[in-house]
Amino acid sequence: KLIVAASCALAVAAGTVHAKDWKEIRIAFDVPYEPFEYKDENGELTGFEVELADAMCKEIQAECEFVIQAWDGMIPGLVARKYDAIMSSMSITPERAERVLFSDPYYITPGGWFARNDFDTDVTDMEAMKGKVVGVQRGTTMDTYVTENMSGIVTIKRYTTADDMVLDLEGRRLDVVFVDYPVGEQTILSKDGFKEVGEPVKLGEGVGVAMRQRDKDLAEQVNAALKKLKEDGTYDAIMKKYFSY
Ligand code: ARG
Repeated sequence: KLIVAASCALAVAAGTVHAKDWKEIRIAFDVPYEPFEYKDENGELTGFEVELADAMCKEIQAECEFVIQAWDGMIPGLVARKYDAIMSSMSITPERAERVLFSDPYYITPGGWFARNDFDTDVTDMEAMKGKVVGVQRGTTMDTYVTENMSGIVTIKRYTTADDMVLDLEGRRLDVVFVDYPVGEQTILSKDGFKEVGEPVKLGEGVGVAMRQRDKDLAEQVNAALKKLKEDGTYDAIMKKYFSY
């Protein structure tokens, strides 16, 4: 009996030790991923999620520290405590939810297909797509989608950064890019000679802030802050700045 009581006391103590007052939140971004996160002409980190993160930290009354992290190391870096949260348009999927704790979704983005104007193949016609070269950012939901649905049909080129992928589309080393729709819209369709092809594909259940599984207290504060920012109009104001719809 004594042992049971002692271990209960220990469990309570461990709980209080862990409960943390979040005075500083380190948040990771993979840039460039315009309009979500990118550097402006002065090299300043900006974008929808950067401003949202700022507003969120103010709401929580914590300092925000921004960390630049390559996409393919995002979740390992979080687990290794290099930062406390990911705000990099990370789509909420069951596979990721086994490793991280997601906030409520704060944005919804489908995957979009983008090509040069002379591309005239139906991206859903696997016969016609044979041998075409499709670009995705490695480790994204778009990568998973083409890997599952088009392996052995198209050549899949995986990129560490989204901007290298866009360069290869311009340089004709790719036929099609499959990327989060707003990113394609703003970094590809904004240039002459490109178009959207096929229909956008729903991937994941919206985009959320990803945190460590054990940081439930942080997730609660993040959710409360996001809710407040939606109610008081801050969220809409930031959104209008960066998205056309
Ligand atoms: N939404 C996609 C995913 O969750 C891609 C996100 C890539 N984000 C970035 N900042 N590079 O897999």
